[in-house]
Amino acid sequence: MSHPLNADSIQQQVVAMYERHPFPAYSDKFRKTAEEMDLKMRLLGVPQSDYHGRKILDAGCGTGEFTCWYAARGNEVTAIDLSRPSLEHAKAYAARYHLDDRIDFQQQSVLHLNLPNETFDFVYCYGVLHHTPDPHRGFRELVRVCKPGGIVVVSVYNRYSRFTHRLRQKLIARWAGDDVERRCRLGKRLFPRTARRIKKRAHDASDAVLYDQFSQPHESSHTVGEVLGWMDQSGLSYIGAFGPLRLRDHLYAACLPEFREFEKTFDGYPGPRMAAALLRSVAHLAGMKATEDRAFARPGVLSRFLVQMGWFFLGLRFSCFSIAGRKPIEAD
Ligand SMILES: C[S@@+](CC[C@H](N)C(=O)[O-])C[C@H]1O[C@@H](n2cnc3c(N)ncnc32)[C@H](O)[C@@H]1O
Repeated sequence: MSHPLNADSIQQQVVAMYERHPFPAYSDKFRKTAEEMDLKMRLLGVPQSDYHGRKILDAGCGTGEFTCWYAARGNEVTAIDLSRPSLEHAKAYAARYHLDDRIDFQQQSVLHLNLPNETFDFVYCYGVLHHTPDPHRGFRELVRVCKPGGIVVVSVYNRYSRFTHRLRQKLIARWAGDDVERRCRLGKRLFPRTARRIKKRAHDASDAVLYDQFSQPHESSHTVGEVLGWMDQSGLSYIGAFGPLRLRDHLYAACLPEFREFEKTFDGYPGPRMAAALLRSVAHLAGMKATEDRAFARPGVLSRFLVQMGWFFLGLRFSCFSIAGRKPIEAD
């Protein structure tokens, strides 16, 4: 990020970084999915029937944590990534848990999917589009390969969070140039506490998460309105988001049993932990009740503004937000 890059060199540098340092490298890969995924699916408004026994695309699968989570639920998964070493890690991980016969790993780009139209019931793309030179193009590709009536979920960096981290990244890039090894070394030297906290949170004995956070050659950040705009242009209807995009949906989240498991992800972050406990108390006082397959309304402008201000001021741990949309059954 020390000087502007063109699209080809953005992609090359990003992939070269993930080829040298496949991400994620968590020591317990099931931990993160176990903490997050059940709550995430409920708040994304995705019924279980949409991600059990289905055909799923995990686009930009990295080392396969989500791929395996889906495969373990009886889905037939296609997992793509541009980094060959990441795919090799993912394959080995899948084989260890005897999930490999349900997964087709392919090296290809989310920007030019070599996959037929309308192939998948469920398309998932977590933390990938913002590392490409053209996230909107990637989004359109995901919609293209989704079947009518199917679901597309994307997660991108949130424009209204991690300001201090972006400053760190700028400083590191300015001093260390484009060399990802120098960037990571400098990041650890300048920000040792942050480095320790990032690694601890990620349960990452290697430095893979530090390369992802300190040495990143390219990342863009996005607003909720921007992603809703992509959905509108592709004709998807909004079904839910994680984190929730309306205040009442935050309260609803806090009354779900899965929220207790999710709160563990705030360990080491006293602010968000207190906010979560407060939210639970308010949800209790407000008499919120969990219901199966609740439908979430699309957030209005005021809700989006308030939630994004919350992310900004409270620094809640939504450095990425996810939005789910359903593709219409009838093509226009
Ligand atoms: C931050 S990692 C996320 C991995 C995984 N989705 C997860 O959340 O654990 C980003 C991944 O996107 C991959 N990637 C970057 N650009 C890509 C592209 N154009 N097509 C496919 N994968 C890409 C990288 O190789 C890397 O594995």
